Amino acid sequence: MKTSIIEGQKIYLRSLNEEDVHVMINWVNNKHITQYLNFEPPISEEEEHDWLIAVNQSETDLVFGIVEKGSNIHIGNIGLHHIDKKTEDADIGIFIGETDREGKGYGTEALQLAVAYACRELHLKIIHAPIFASNTRSIALFEKAGFKKEKVISKGYLKNGNWIDVVIYAYLCSGARGK
Ligand SMILES: CC(C)(COP(=O)(O)OP(=O)(O)OC[C@H]1O[C@@H](n2cnc3c(N)ncnc32)[C@H](O)[C@@H]1OP(=O)(O)O)[C@@H](O)C(=O)NCCC(=O)NCCS
Repeated sequence: MKTSIIEGQKIYLRSLNEEDVHVMINWVNNKHITQYLNFEPPISEEEEHDWLIAVNQSETDLVFGIVEKGSNIHIGNIGLHHIDKKTEDADIGIFIGETDREGKGYGTEALQLAVAYACRELHLKIIHAPIFASNTRSIALFEKAGFKKEKVISKGYLKNGNWIDVVIYAYLCSGARGK
């Protein structure tokens, strides 16, 4: 699924294109980033390219590049996955790939923009964020954005031979059940 630009103050979100693979290949092979994500290096350029094509053709995934406004540098990605128009929900995931751009508020703004887009433009009611329990930084980010802890899945994900507890956070769009 592709979309137009979503403007923020310090960053904007845009669709991904094939030229982005050259940058993204470094991020998806950086264990500092992938330790908290549901894929594992090594990932080849061809695999990353195939992933991009599949995502852009998918009717249930929408992945945005996060771009720093001043420099126009692509610094990370944020994606809505398993978008289900019937149940009006989706999962969300984010990473800042350019690690020197972490801690600058870009993740916060990207999350706010993507959530607003999911609620207002895609008319979703609930957005879920599955987060590794050890990822305190991400938990802080999602709580700050208004996500509430829904449940813990004990040993919810097998990563490098280790079972990891996964916390499911949920954001209710305005007008959704209970709001
Ligand atoms: C999690 C991640 C997306 C946060 O993005 P970011 O741009 O660095 O986040 P922000 O600068 O907007 O900070 C958001 C909150 O995170 C927390 N945070 C930021 N830097 C932190 C640090 N070094 N240590 C602990 N918490 C930190 C703070 O609560 C911060 O809010 P505050 O500045 O108001 O206190 C980014 O660190 C990342 O890509 N991590 C690796 C991949 C990952 O874990 N993705 C999420 C999978 S669910």
